[in-house]
Order: sequence, then structure tokens, then C-alpha cells
Amino acid sequence: MFVCFLIGEVRRKSSFRQSPLLTATPVRALIDEQISIKGRFLSQNYPVTVCAQMHSEEGDLWEAFAHYTTNASGSINLTSDHSVGGSYVGCEPMGLFWALEPALGSREGLRLRKRNVETPYMVNISLLEGHTSPSEGQRTELAAVTTERWYMAPGVRRIEIRQNNIVGTLFLPPGPGPFPAMLDLWGMGGGLLEYRSALFASRGFASLSVAYMGHKDLPGPQHIMSVGDSYFKSAFQLLQDHCQVDADRIGVIGLSYGVVPTLRIATTIGFKVNPKLACFEICNMIITVLFASEK
Ligand SMILES: *[C@@H]1O[C@H](CO)[C@@H](O)[C@H](O)[C@H]1NC(C)=O
Ligand SMILES: *[C@@H]1O[C@H](CO)[C@@H](O)[C@H](O)[C@H]1NC(C)=O
Ligand SMILES: *[C@@H]1O[C@H](CO)[C@@H](O)[C@H](O)[C@H]1NC(C)=O
Repeated sequence: MFVCFLIGEVRRKSSFRQSPLLTATPVRALIDEQISIKGRFLSQNYPVTVCAQMHSEEGDLWEAFAHYTTNASGSINLTSDHSVGGSYVGCEPMGLFWALEPALGSREGLRLRKRNVETPYMVNISLLEGHTSPSEGQRTELAAVTTERWYMAPGVRRIEIRQNNIVGTLFLPPGPGPFPAMLDLWGMGGGLLEYRSALFASRGFASLSVAYMGHKDLPGPQHIMSVGDSYFKSAFQLLQDHCQVDADRIGVIGLSYGVVPTLRIATTIGFKVNPKLACFEICNMIITVLFASEK
């Protein structure tokens, strides 16, 4: 903004300086994509705080902040600059996102989980004067930008599955396929979690999230597991029979208790694991991934 005020003899010096600008590139991104954040048109060697704030779907405020000093050109670049204080220190290009925590005074035991994958997390990033914190009352906002973080890329299709007793959601990448596919199993917390499958589909995999307890559409009481091997077999079969799925490239991923049905599918249900494709991984005893094939 180049605005020149000429009021009589008074020419305001500050009117020749462009206002501070905060940019995020890309401003709309997938949740696993890096966002580059930069501030410009600031005073040189000047202390600033960059602060991220967002509301979870339950309405709780999550935030992170970090202290930077502008360089001799009056810029900051979170991809290369070091934070000297706040939620993290050092060079952490995505620090504002991974360091998000419930704001001071929030309810206890909050967990950040996206239920509706058809909407993004809206994360407001603001640039504040001085080294401060979001909880401090006196704060001067110099610039701001709102970023969108998505699990579902444009063109990904979300299909609710209630067939062959399966309670699940299938995500398909854009295009005709055939796609490699994943069967996505979560833990004893139950319900139907879709965000990992949505992201798989955003990255080119058909993915079926399946509920096996704690869901109203499943038979029996919600607090126990009332389905067995045949249920998981049908879910796997559903992917194999899908016309847009490459039946020889289907993997299973299990988290927490989901590791148990994952291993059963791999070892006892009768699907052959292709040793050439098999990728088996257990991190902190909670995740198993493998690629199975009937060939
Ligand atoms: C983010 O900014 C928008 C637009 O200014 C505002 O409506 C929303 O409440 C802000 N969110 C947070 C968490 O402050
Ligand atoms: C200041 O940082 C900006 C953004 O990283 C960079 O383009 C510019 O060259 C830097 N200026 C100096 C003097 O280091
Ligand atoms: C910010 O830093 C990154 C990493 O050093 C660099 O690739 C990028 O060009 C910098 N941006 C600017 C505007 O200088």
C-alpha cells in the first residue's frame, strides 16, 4: 500500500512504508504438507512473536507461539530462522502447527481429532509486536493470515458404506483408478475415524475406514467388540471386489488394538501376503502396516 499523505507542508514519513505483511504459502494445504510462513516490511532487528490459534471441532482453543527477531531487511522466514522462545526454540518450519496445545485454562484431557474431514482446520497465524505470549493481555497485532489444513484433497470422494454388515467409509482418489488400497483400522476407542483414510486418498490410495466397536450401526452393545474374523474378511473383500481398486495391492493398517485384527487378517483369515510387497512396521507397539495379495 503506497499511500502518500500531503497535508500542507507535512509529509508523513511512515506513510511511505508498506504495512507489515505476513504470508503463508500455500495458504490452503493438506495436513501433511509444509506451509512456508514469512513476515516482511517490519523494522529491522526487531522482536516479534508469531502466534497460531485455532478452534477444535468441540470449540476448544488450541495455540502455539514463538519468538523471532527480524533480520537487517526487516523480514522473518520461519523456514530458516530460529525461534528464541515460546512453544519451541530453534529452526522449526512447522513448529507453529506441531506445537499447538490447548490454551491455558482449557478443559483437561483434550485430544485433537478431526471428525468431519470435509472441512479443514482453520489456523489463524498472527504477527505480534515484541516477545510476548497469547495469554498476555496487551498485544499489538501487526499482520495476520488464516491457513487451511485439509485431510481431503479436492476431487477425493467420500462414500459411506453400510453393506455386507460393514460399517465404514470409503475414500477414493480422483480419477478412474485402479488404485492401490488400504484397509484402515483404529483402536478400542471405537467409532469411525476417517481422517487417515481421507489423507490416504489424497495421496493416491483408495482407503476404507472400518468401525468394529463403539458405533451405533454395529450389532450388539457398543462397549464390546461384537464382530469377528468374518467381518474383517468382508471388509478386505469389499476392497478387493471394488472396480477401482487394484486387488493385488491392498494393505492393512492397524493402530493400537487395531493391530490385532490386522495381524489376524494377515495370518489366519486366508489372504496371502506377498513377501515382495510386505512392509511390516511396528512403532511404539501401536502401528502395523502390511501389503497383502492373493497372488
Ligand atoms: C480466526 O479468524 C477469524 C476471522 O478473523 C475469526 O472469525 C476466528 O474466530 C479466528 N479464530 C480464532 C481461533 O481466533
Ligand atoms: C532477510 O530475510 C529475507 C527472508 O528470508 C531474505 O530474503 C533477505 O535476504 C534477508 N536479508 C538479509 C539482509 O539477510
Ligand atoms: C526462506 O528460507 C528458505 C530456506 O532457507 C529459503 O528456501 C527461502 O527462499 C527463504 N525465503 C525468502 C523469502 O528468502
